[in-house]
Amino acid sequence: MITFSDVSVEKSGTEILRGIDLTIRERRVGVIGRNGSGKSTFARLFNGIEVPTSGSVSLDASGDPKQLRRHVGFVFQNPDNQIVYPIVWEDLEFGLKNLGLPRDEIRQRVDDVLKRFGLQHLRDRFTHQLSGGEKQMVALAGVLVMQPRMIVFDEPTTLLDLWNKQMLMAAMEELEQHIVVVSHDLELLKGFDRVLHFDDGVIIEDGEPGAVIANYVARSRC
Ligand SMILES: Nc1ncnc2c1ncn2[C@@H]1O[C@H](COP(=O)(O)OP(=O)(O)O)[C@@H](O)[C@H]1O
Ligand SMILES: [Mg+2]
Repeated sequence: MITFSDVSVEKSGTEILRGIDLTIRERRVGVIGRNGSGKSTFARLFNGIEVPTSGSVSLDASGDPKQLRRHVGFVFQNPDNQIVYPIVWEDLEFGLKNLGLPRDEIRQRVDDVLKRFGLQHLRDRFTHQLSGGEKQMVALAGVLVMQPRMIVFDEPTTLLDLWNKQMLMAAMEELEQHIVVVSHDLELLKGFDRVLHFDDGVIIEDGEPGAVIANYVARSRC
């Protein structure tokens, strides 16, 4: 469970988000809204990459921001912003080394995630030589090895072709973690438990995907 209590974010004198008050218990939550409505800023609050100007974000009622970083993973729109090391296995081991885990456990976790998604053949590849879809899967693998409880995706399929998009969506569907997905792909969000519609820094609708998406589409026509 993650709770936003009266969260506002202000940058350069502009209020980008205001009065965000909600608790998320659902397993799959979608976030929609026009460009510039505050979705990415909202998404980054989940794992503490962004901090509220006022209000608070807490995981299971713990006010400790370290809990967010530790338990919430983040997948960026562009995997090039996420992958830092030249070789896939090095990149996947990086976060685990920072945690100070034993060598054997690091190997095991990386192997398990690669195996689970059929990515073993990428283990020794140069990250800069991967296709967009492969990079996005490696970025997701890098988050999964950290064993987060929740994963936030910010427009994860935008740069992918149809095949890679389907591969990523299938992987997302298999996840046991709670997921929050910012997306313009309304099809993807139809089967979710809850959808939040952002407009101009506030949530203007929050509920079942069917109704929220229908109103969003109707609004875009005006
Ligand atoms: N550092 C900043 N200073 C001023 N305005 C910003 C800054 N970062 C983002 N914004 C503005 O905040 C608004 C929301 O941005 P963002 O959360 O990226 O929206 P979305 O992901 O919905 O497109 C945009 O209008 C953007 O221009
Ligand atoms: Mg965005």
